[in-house]
Amino acid sequence: MCYLLQMEEEYQVTLRTSPSPSAGTYNLVLVTLIGTRNVSPTITVGDGQTFTPGSVITIRLQPEKPLGHMVLVRLRLERRPGFPDLDWHCQWVDVTRLGPSGAGKSTDRFHCDKWLQTADGDVELRNGHVYTVNEESLNILKNHRAQQLQTRQHLFRWCTFAEGIPRCVDMRNLQHLGPNLSYTHQSPGVNLQYLRGFGDYAMSWSSLEDLELLFAYNSQENIIAKFVQAHWKEDPFFGYQCLNGCNPLVLRRVQQVPPNMAVTADMLHPFFSEGSSLQQEMERGSIFLLDYEVLEGVPANLINGKQQYLAAPLCLLHYDHQGALKPIAIQLQQTPGPQNPVFIPSDSEPDWLLAKTWVRCADFQCHQLISHFLRTHLLGEVCCIATLRQLPEIHPLYQVLMPHVRTTLQINIQARTSLLAPGGVFDKSIGCGLEGIKVLLRRATERLHYRSLCVPDDLEDRGVAALPNSYYAQDALKVWAALHRFVSDWVDTYYTSDSSVHQDVELQNWIQDIFSQGFLGLTHTGFPQSFKTKMELSKFVTMVIFACTALHAAVNFSQLDFNLWMPNSPATMRRPPPQAKGLVTMQDLLSILPDVNATCSVLATLSLLSQPSKDFIPLCQYREEYFSSGPPKRLVEALQKELKSISIDITKRNRFLELPYLYLYPERIENSVAI
Ligand SMILES: *[C@@H]1O[C@H](CO)[C@@H](O)[C@H](O)[C@H]1NC(C)=O
Ligand SMILES: *[C@@H]1O[C@H](CO)[C@@H](O)[C@H](O)[C@H]1NC(C)=O
Ligand SMILES: *[C@@H]1O[C@H](CO)[C@@H](O)[C@H](O)[C@H]1NC(C)=O
Ligand SMILES: [Fe+2]
Repeated sequence: MCYLLQMEEEYQVTLRTSPSPSAGTYNLVLVTLIGTRNVSPTITVGDGQTFTPGSVITIRLQPEKPLGHMVLVRLRLERRPGFPDLDWHCQWVDVTRLGPSGAGKSTDRFHCDKWLQTADGDVELRNGHVYTVNEESLNILKNHRAQQLQTRQHLFRWCTFAEGIPRCVDMRNLQHLGPNLSYTHQSPGVNLQYLRGFGDYAMSWSSLEDLELLFAYNSQENIIAKFVQAHWKEDPFFGYQCLNGCNPLVLRRVQQVPPNMAVTADMLHPFFSEGSSLQQEMERGSIFLLDYEVLEGVPANLINGKQQYLAAPLCLLHYDHQGALKPIAIQLQQTPGPQNPVFIPSDSEPDWLLAKTWVRCADFQCHQLISHFLRTHLLGEVCCIATLRQLPEIHPLYQVLMPHVRTTLQINIQARTSLLAPGGVFDKSIGCGLEGIKVLLRRATERLHYRSLCVPDDLEDRGVAALPNSYYAQDALKVWAALHRFVSDWVDTYYTSDSSVHQDVELQNWIQDIFSQGFLGLTHTGFPQSFKTKMELSKFVTMVIFACTALHAAVNFSQLDFNLWMPNSPATMRRPPPQAKGLVTMQDLLSILPDVNATCSVLATLSLLSQPSKDFIPLCQYREEYFSSGPPKRLVEALQKELKSISIDITKRNRFLELPYLYLYPERIENSVAI
């Protein structure tokens, strides 16, 4: 009797190929079911069936011995004789245990959502529920987790790109990355027609009119760039850019003039309204500072055979009663002295404009290398590597993080082999060249504080959120809050208590890897080294998602807009910072700004980086299977609603602005760092 029942055990197995056009394969797929008690015989699927895109193949399988509970599905690709070996993108496998009558009893879904290759050998999928390691009761599944991490730790190793900066992935080219982490950036193509042909013009621009002509051809539909070109010399626009330009991360409120800035109250007196003083304005909270100390001592590049120059300026700004933020004092080097004058708005027009331009050039270096590369690209890569090495796929945080960091390895490998390599744009055209990059990034890493990456802390520390025209700050706070709620709910769903966070060994290894490899064990930076509470964990994960999505959008989307009119953000300066006042004319400015071909190569690069991708995935519009049902689905729906209402708020606010702030529209934020 018993024997008969066992003979009747039967399973229906359904294999789903992903719908994308290249997902299908000619290969055969070997399927084995693994239960708690026994392993089924292996059967070959593909004789008479085709794994075409979007197809579903169903087979029946009768084990000889009862399997017990289904725990794993083992797949293996084998070459079909006479056909090429194509990778297969499997979406999922369903396994249904059939009752005696052949009716389905219960179905388990085994998510795959990955590329499988013949070279992989056996690949074992587990069913769709996510677990932390402590909830794992079966040894076979504990082993499965451990094995997956072992394989990944072998595949994704840490490597040093430059001493003192976050470590990166040990891969020199994209082939090693494999299909799971690769993507194609499909773009409609960018028109570089009017930036080409200047390749060997290693000479100064001969007039501002020539620059205007170049600009007219290249800014055709860019309303923001045109606004920049019209207002770049104006003090309030200089201040506006510190709040809402491509690098809104440097400005901070100060309670005193930095001791190394040779500014006196008398000097600044004329710029305050009747009866006010520097002291009173400080107390009112309306004095701000830009400090590019991080650039001090960074060696400058050699461009077209000529020495270039960098400065490490300090700039004081005043938020006046009309609501304009204006620069009131600029000192170009950190150490005060007779050869380091403090420029003020009442200096001659060329002196003051040149001083502001030096600040903008310093900002260009810090924007590209620190705000953009370090704080979004490198941070994303660190978290991606740690996630691959320390969290198995079945871990709840792997699921929520991977969609945001998945593309960082590819884009950063590409950046290291092109933009940041010998002969690349930094080497050929930017003030901070290959040698300078390493020094600047090392200094910036030492100065990178955890608080500065967490939006509410950062804005509080810098005192900029309360300014009514601080649009980056307003929008960033809203997006952060929405992400933080989502992540906290996610963490609540999978961790019942603080101690379950504390006891999750995989999670602790993850943050330890990030701290020691990514942030080089620098304790003064305030980065967490372990998680004791759900709150600490939620904050950290929010920070990672924000940096890879919203922050990247704020510093990336904006770069062409604010840099296309080159004098607004020169990438290099060809003469040393002035050591006295009254020595330059407007005409001299052109002999200080970048050469013609260096200008065009920077603009061409920025244009290339500005191509919208055809497969752009907006913020948190997850395409992964895991988000399509159960708690993840509910949480994502709630988040989407909130993002939608943020978007409506932004539209309302922008309606009244001369220059709308568009970069943090949730639907314009890309879900990961892909360019
Ligand atoms: C893609 O992911 C699957 C499942 O984790 C893995 O077996 C396979 O080796 C991966 N492929 C590559 C090339 O990394
Ligand atoms: C600019 O032109 C000079 C001289 O022809 C050339 O050596 C240099 O590589 C060019 N620079 C760029 C960025 O194209
Ligand atoms: C980067 O900015 C450009 C616009 O300058 C945009 O087209 C592109 O999609 C942005 N990329 C991301 C990942 O936000
Ligand atoms: Fe980028």
